[in-house]
Amino acid sequence: MSGEDAALLARARAVIPNGVFGHRRSFAFTATQMRTIPEDYPHFVAGARGCRFSDADGQPYIDYLCGYGPMVSGYARAEVDAAFTAQQARGVCHSLPSPVEVALAEALVARHPGMAWSACSQSGTDAIDVAIAVARAHTGRAALVVAHGAWHGNHVNLAFGAGRVAQEQGQVRRIAWGDVAALADALAREPVAAVLLCPYDQQVGAANALPPAGHWAQVRALCDRHGAALVLDDIRAGFRLDPRGSAAHFGIAPDLHCLSKALANGYPVAATLGSAAMLAAAQRVFVSGTFWGLAPALAAALANLELLDAAACAHMAAMGTRLCDGLQALAARRGLELAISGPPALPLVGFAGDHEHALACAFSEAMARRGVLLHPTHNWFLSLAHTPADIDETLERAEAALAALPAGR
Ligand SMILES: Cc1ncc(COP(=O)(O)O)c(C=O)c1O
Repeated sequence: MSGEDAALLARARAVIPNGVFGHRRSFAFTATQMRTIPEDYPHFVAGARGCRFSDADGQPYIDYLCGYGPMVSGYARAEVDAAFTAQQARGVCHSLPSPVEVALAEALVARHPGMAWSACSQSGTDAIDVAIAVARAHTGRAALVVAHGAWHGNHVNLAFGAGRVAQEQGQVRRIAWGDVAALADALAREPVAAVLLCPYDQQVGAANALPPAGHWAQVRALCDRHGAALVLDDIRAGFRLDPRGSAAHFGIAPDLHCLSKALANGYPVAATLGSAAMLAAAQRVFVSGTFWGLAPALAAALANLELLDAAACAHMAAMGTRLCDGLQALAARRGLELAISGPPALPLVGFAGDHEHALACAFSEAMARRGVLLHPTHNWFLSLAHTPADIDETLERAEAALAALPAGR
C-alpha cells in the first residue's frame, strides 16, 4: 500500500467503522480467526475490466475473488452493461413492476427443473428471508435446521456476533453438513419448518466436501417424512457449476431454491424459486424491499443468463482445474502440499496441515505483492474472463511467491 490507497484508508478510518466495513475488511476469517486486511494488501479498487482490476494506486491485479462471486462473466462485460444501460434509459426504480421482471422469472423457472415460480429481490440475504418466510407459512412451523459453519447471510435468526440477540437464534438447530443421522435426529425431535443447506459443505477455512452419492435423496426423503421444506442456498455456487443450477447438478429436489451473487454479473439481483406446492404460501407472505425489482439490474441479469450456458460452466471448471493443478505442482516442487477442495470453478485452496492458516496468509500476501488477489480462507472464484494465459501468468507469479514463503525451499 502506498500513496492513494494509504490516503483513502486514513480518510475512511475517520468516517467508516474500521475504515472498511463488513466482509471486505476481513482478510482471513474462520470460526476461530478474524484478521483484518494487512496494510500492504490493496484496500480499494479504482477500476476493473475482464478478470483484472487496478487498486487506488494504479497497481493491476488478476482477481480470483470476483467480488466474492458476483463477477462471473467479466468486469465491465459489454453485453450485460449494455442491457443495464438500455433499461436505465427507461427509468430505474418504478412504482409498478417492469416487464423485464416477468421475463427474468420466466427465464429462471425455465432453467431450473422442478421450480414453478420466482420472486425477485436484491441480495442473498433477501432470497433467504423470502424462502424462510414461505417455508414457515407453508408448514406453520418455526424451527430451522442448518449446517455448522454455514453462512446464509444476515437473516435475524441466522447471523450471530456482537449486536445480535441470542434469543433470535432460538429457532435454529445446527448439524454437521452431510450428517444424515443428525438431520434425522433433529427432524424427529420437533416440528421443523425448513432444512436450509448449501449444495455442498461450503465452510470458510475448512475442506469443502462435495455430497456423497445418494446423499441428497436421503435428505429429501427425511424432509418428506417429517413435513419440512427443503431450502437450497445456491447463492454462492449458482451459475458456476451448471446452467440448470446446482440442484440439477447434484440431483437435489428442493422446495425452495435461493439464487443471487453471479445472477446479474455484479448488479444486485436475487431470486427465490419455488415448487408448485410452495406457491400458495408464497402468495400469502409479505416480504418486500423498496429497491427490489430494480429494472436495469433485472435486464442485466437476463443478458447475463444468455452468457451462462454449459460451455461457460465447462470453461470455469477447466480454468479452475488448470489453476489448481498448476499450483499443486509448483507447491510440490518446494516440498509443500496444497489442500484443495470444492468444485474447480470455486475451489478452496489452502496448505495441508496449515491449521492456523499462517502459510495461506503468507502466500496470499506474497501473491498480492505480485499482482494476484487471492483469499487465504475463503473459496476463490473463476469467471468467463479468466483465460489460460491469465492462469499461466498467475502460476508464474505463484512460483515466485512460493519461493518467498518462510517455509519455501
Ligand atoms: C452461501 C451464501 N448464502 C447467502 C449469502 C448471503 O448473500 P448476501 O451477502 O448477498 O446477502 C452468502 C454470501 O456470501 C453466501 O455465500
